Amino acid sequence: MTLVHAPFPTAEWWRTAVIYQVYPRSFADSDGDGVGDLPGITARLDHLARLGVDAVWLSPFYRSPQKDAGYDVADYRDIDPVFGTLDDADAMIAAAHERGLRVIVDLVPNHTSADHPWFRAALAAAPGSPERARYLFRDGKGPGGAEPPNDWRSIFGGPAWTRVTEADGTPGQWYLHLFDTSQPDLDWTHPEVRAEFVSVLRFWLDRGVDGFRVDVAHGLVKADGLPDWGGEVEMVGGTVDEGGDAADDAAAEDADVVTGAGDPGPMFDQDGVHEIYREWRKVLDEYDGERALVAEAWVEPLSRLARYVRPDEMHQAFNFTFLTTRWDAAAYRRVITASLRANDTVGAPTTWVLSNHDVVRHPSRLGLPDAGSRPHGIGRDDVQPDEELGLRRGRAATLLMLALPGSAYVYQGEELGLPEHTTLPDEVRTDPAFFRTRGTDEAEAGRDGCRVPLPWEAAAPAFGFSPTGASWLPQPQSWARYAADAQDGVEGSTLEMYRAALRLRRERRLGAGGLEWVDGDDESVLAFRTVGADGRGVAVLGNLGATPLPLPPGARVLLASGPLPDDDTVPADTTVWLEA
Ligand code: NOJ
Repeated sequence: MTLVHAPFPTAEWWRTAVIYQVYPRSFADSDGDGVGDLPGITARLDHLARLGVDAVWLSPFYRSPQKDAGYDVADYRDIDPVFGTLDDADAMIAAAHERGLRVIVDLVPNHTSADHPWFRAALAAAPGSPERARYLFRDGKGPGGAEPPNDWRSIFGGPAWTRVTEADGTPGQWYLHLFDTSQPDLDWTHPEVRAEFVSVLRFWLDRGVDGFRVDVAHGLVKADGLPDWGGEVEMVGGTVDEGGDAADDAAAEDADVVTGAGDPGPMFDQDGVHEIYREWRKVLDEYDGERALVAEAWVEPLSRLARYVRPDEMHQAFNFTFLTTRWDAAAYRRVITASLRANDTVGAPTTWVLSNHDVVRHPSRLGLPDAGSRPHGIGRDDVQPDEELGLRRGRAATLLMLALPGSAYVYQGEELGLPEHTTLPDEVRTDPAFFRTRGTDEAEAGRDGCRVPLPWEAAAPAFGFSPTGASWLPQPQSWARYAADAQDGVEGSTLEMYRAALRLRRERRLGAGGLEWVDGDDESVLAFRTVGADGRGVAVLGNLGATPLPLPPGARVLLASGPLPDDDTVPADTTVWLEA
């Protein structure tokens, strides 16, 4: 046995919470326009209470032209009409709280929408004006300033700069947008920008939200002088984990490096961002009820990411190194060890996440011939995942994740085992990443495939997503079998597996528990014991290999990710929880 992480008995909810991500456009539509909305979410909260999660995080619902599905905010203090009203938000928050569910909202501070009044004012004003100073406007290079100010690329493809036309009709300055042209980056050295976001935090804290997921938390501060770089950053990034042999594992763990430190470039992970989060933490600490901040920061290595969750900064950071791990027991062992160690050094919980609205759903990723690789979306002409294999592995990965100490994220629909929609016609796609890379060497299908509206009822129009049958993206016909009502109460269904895992996790307080590796010599097995905060943990066996694995003599199975044969073995691509 190798102890990696000691139990951490705690009452602070965010240290152990299972947090369910709602993507409002695609969760539930109450008014029949084909786009999900806040009353739709409120009406379906019982599903989440019954699932057994502790909190809900909602992707943005603010007023927005929806050029990047709401991650382009025009008014941080109002709800977009497509999602409802502020009253609807208040009602949703109250209804969640009545059910014991906390509510985390999304904060998008790196950029505004081009429709935000500040950016409109900046466009109308002259170069050098105070209006432009809140964004990153610069003169171009070369004759007539016709070249962008530096060589940075947008994460969605193409240049990260767009040139504006000045009031007199002449070609003018350029502004920086790390994402779409419709998402101008703010200048976080500007005191008004800082004051505005403190005020936005207070606006939502006063309305009773329990925390914020902070979009692009590693991007707010750019290197002085915005220097050329030559590199390229991906959002669904990280550097490729080549696996490595057992000898490398120990070295990698010691060095606290799992996938190697990618160079973040001059636009990401600058030291200045931490000052901002220290200020925000003080604001949150003024409020009762343990409000929390979670960083969306694609930062590696994990020791670097841990800086975002030092005691006076954020409470959690998404563990994307875990999300991007390949279907390989040694790789999982390395990433789990390194994650727990890195966060233990700062006293923060580790988070675990397999899917979200930016990545291919994990059953589909794991069903690809290159299992666990991370394409930027999957299109009709791409290699298609094996749906059945992917679901089996996806469920096995989920049971590995939900036993781990710390906090876990569940993306809407994963409790149904939903695959990615991998054959969407191009005409229905909306992701700017698809449009900005189309026809280039970097062409990507984009993220629409993981954002398809949920199937609630197998026999209803749009599978019960909307009363009219409208759905902003088409749902595959095969989704009837994934519908929530088709799985409810059905033994062995994915929904019942999630419910059972969350129940055991709660009963045995696994989130606050410890973790020790069970040493063995089968490289395709992941074996660990979790020690629950009350001393009652579970023993976990993940068979990531191709051959059946004998169960230890006398083992009592508590939960399995797939059917178990009578011969006391764990089949390939299956995880079991055993009485410890
Ligand atoms: C990360 C969000 O999760 C993603 O959906 C969005 O496109 C970018 N940040 C830009 O806001």
